[in-house]
Amino acid sequence: MDFQELIRRRYSVRAYRSEPVSEEALARILEAGRLAPTAANRQPFRIVVLHAAGRPEALARLYDRRWFVQAPLVLCVCGVPEEAWVRKDGRSHLDVDAAIVMDHLILAATEEGLGTCWIANFDPEAARQVLGLPAEVEPICFTPLGYPAAAPGPKERRPLSELVRYGRW
Ligand SMILES: Cc1cc2nc3c(=O)[nH]c(=O)nc-3n(C[C@H](O)[C@H](O)[C@H](O)COP(=O)(O)O)c2cc1C
Repeated sequence: MDFQELIRRRYSVRAYRSEPVSEEALARILEAGRLAPTAANRQPFRIVVLHAAGRPEALARLYDRRWFVQAPLVLCVCGVPEEAWVRKDGRSHLDVDAAIVMDHLILAATEEGLGTCWIANFDPEAARQVLGLPAEVEPICFTPLGYPAAAPGPKERRPLSELVRYGRW
């Protein structure tokens, strides 16, 4: 798919069909995450793949929305703070790296005709328990992964003139 078409086609899917995602499609999506750039190439992330079927209660503890438990898979991008590149002013780039990984996963999923939705508003403690994360690993963002059951709405975005400055602020 043409890149411009791909980024227009992606939207936050909040209704899913239960139809399974093939192993091949999942492998391509995970490979896109693996190839994401990270600061100093530290790759301080891990991707957890959850099979959603039969565990609606556990998933609802993470994020209590009906659509979150509809898709057959849920992906979580986790960060390992100790592995992340830290700038000399102390700013860790863990979240930036994780966000790029998630965006690669989401765009690759879009190319497969699959739906996703960024989820940052989950319960971190429940995520740690449900995913069995060790103390040194942080859950950063989730997405369901499955075939959309609804059509996208219109994109609401500010005009470029509000978002871009040339040369100086
Ligand atoms: C970092 C980030 C966190 C988000 N967290 C949530 C969330 O917790 N729940 C949710 O329903 N949508 C979440 N979203 C989706 C946004 O609401 C959505 O991307 C935005 O409204 C634009 O709509 P679109 O994705 O359909 O283009 C998040 C998006 C981003 C980028």
